[in-house]
Amino acid sequence: MAKVSVDQSTCIGCEVCVDTAPDVFEMVDGKAQVKNPDGASVDVIKEAAEACPTESIKVEE
Ligand code: F3S
Repeated sequence: MAKVSVDQSTCIGCEVCVDTAPDVFEMVDGKAQVKNPDGASVDVIKEAAEACPTESIKVEE
């Protein structure tokens, strides 16, 4: 299982992560949070991390 986290201090709420992996990330008060690290494959989560404009998502396998 991957360890996924969102840095709340750098997330600007662009929602690309939620669009890419809606079962992993959710928006809370305009920022992304991890709701289920098993909601998508590690590859998809990494895709979301790479798509984040502020590199706020960290993925550890
Ligand atoms: Fe925030 Fe990046 Fe997602 S800015 S909303 S963690 S794509």
